Amino acid sequence: MVYSRILGTGSYLPSNVVTNAMLAERVDTSDEWIVSRTGIHARHIAAEDEKTSDLALCAARAAIADAGLVPDDIDLIIVATTTPDMVFPSTACLLQEKLGVHGCPAFDVQAVCAGFMYALVTADSYIKNGMAKKALVVGAEIISRILDWDDRRTCVLFGDGAGAVVLGAADTPGIEHACLAADGRYNKILNTPAQISAGKIQGLPFLNMDGPAVFKFAVKALSEIATITLAQAGVAQEQVDWLVPHQANLRIIESTAKHLGLPMERVVVTLPTHGNTSAASIPLALDHAVRDGRIRRGQRVLLEGIGGGFAWGAVLLTF
Ligand code: ACO
Repeated sequence: MVYSRILGTGSYLPSNVVTNAMLAERVDTSDEWIVSRTGIHARHIAAEDEKTSDLALCAARAAIADAGLVPDDIDLIIVATTTPDMVFPSTACLLQEKLGVHGCPAFDVQAVCAGFMYALVTADSYIKNGMAKKALVVGAEIISRILDWDDRRTCVLFGDGAGAVVLGAADTPGIEHACLAADGRYNKILNTPAQISAGKIQGLPFLNMDGPAVFKFAVKALSEIATITLAQAGVAQEQVDWLVPHQANLRIIESTAKHLGLPMERVVVTLPTHGNTSAASIPLALDHAVRDGRIRRGQRVLLEGIGGGFAWGAVLLTF
């Protein structure tokens, strides 16, 4: 039996930090409101000339180096993003060119904030089926480009960044179990409905959200999928060393951890300084916790994410 395991992790955050106080100069909000409702203090925002593939490149290089590999070793590239460089080619193909490798399959996965879960499960399947041996899986977003910076309900929540892992074939897991889910009936509570037609942008080109509805849905769906994933894997909550959840809102994270019976000391939280980086949030949080020594080899980690669609998923793995 072939399994896949994480050989290396990497991440990248743009240098420009925007604090809550800076946002309060532009919209009618306050540090107190943002911190108490979301847990966010600051976020990183990409420079005008930075592209999603640039952020992805920095994270990818770090993950490949951490795995002790070189770009030529990679035989599959999957990028999870909602904010691609352009309509096409895919950000994965642009990343492939920037990495200086050629020929291996490269494609994007679009599942918004659940994108990294979908991409990781896809790469795991490629490896298990013998179609890849060293897969680069990246979550990268410049979500700031689809925010209405005059809308206080949404602009305070998000940030830009990228995270990456290299998955490699292994004799033992690695990825133990995964569950993915989607329910398109909820597409209207979180979306960016714009499309290009007849040379123009048609429809709202900004992120549009019913915050309370998203909050309610996210808590229920994340709690359920984490419980199902553990039950199907035959793993008890106390056997999970770390929960690395999508970083959308501290209250959503706390509710999910409570439902799972996991103390917050075993939950990786990067939200206060990253904000919600959509598809990048889970690999970013994972890389930070690996690099600061919290997550160690042999420990069991539960990743879970949810985003527009609605789409959500969880992956249980031994790091
Ligand atoms: N500053 C000050 N006041 C604000 C702000 C702000 N930034 N944003 C909204 N308000 C006001 C509203 O206008 C409203 O005022 P009103 O009562 O006079 O109309 C009041 O605060 C309460 O608004 P609610 O939307 O009910 O506030 P709530 O407590 O639900 O918090 C929040 C809003 C933080 C968005 C919350 O609903 C939430 O976190 N939802 C989940 C959304 C999320 O995480 N989205 C990320 C993308 S999806 C994902 O990643 C899963």
